[in-house]
Amino acid sequence: MGPGGPPGGGPGGRGPGGPGGRAPDLGKVGDDAEHTVEWLAAFVRDPKSQKADARMPAFGAEKINDADLQALAEYLASLKSDPEKAAGEAPTGDEPPGDAKPGN
Ligand code: HEM
Repeated sequence: MGPGGPPGGGPGGRGPGGPGGRAPDLGKVGDDAEHTVEWLAAFVRDPKSQKADARMPAFGAEKINDADLQALAEYLASLKSDPEKAAGEAPTGDEPPGDAKPGN
């Protein structure tokens, strides 16, 4: 008679960008022109260095090294709301017209 619910989930949910969330949706964090790779790297390293009232915890060198931080910042900067710029793997639907049947 147990509920038998699936594991995982947990408080907070997983939907990004929902209202009332604690942290912002990073799925399009690269849209903001201010969010350069340098800014993002500096923010993750020490949020208060970029936003004096930031609540996000700092990620010091013991948490992420410079190379990984750089790669992370480059990835974050690439996150755009424009799916064409972000993905670049959408199907084109650009097939050649090779299916013409001979006249009947
Ligand atoms: C690898 C982990 C994380 C990354 C890459 C990351 C990245 C970011 C970035 C880039 C922003 C700036 C968004 C903007 O200004 O538009 C941000 C903001 C924020 N993040 Fe994170 N974050 C991480 C972990 C966390 C954690 C663990 C928390 C909380 C426990 C958190 C809480 C916040 C909050 C509250 C903000 C809004 C600004 C502030 O009040 O600090 N983040 N995060």
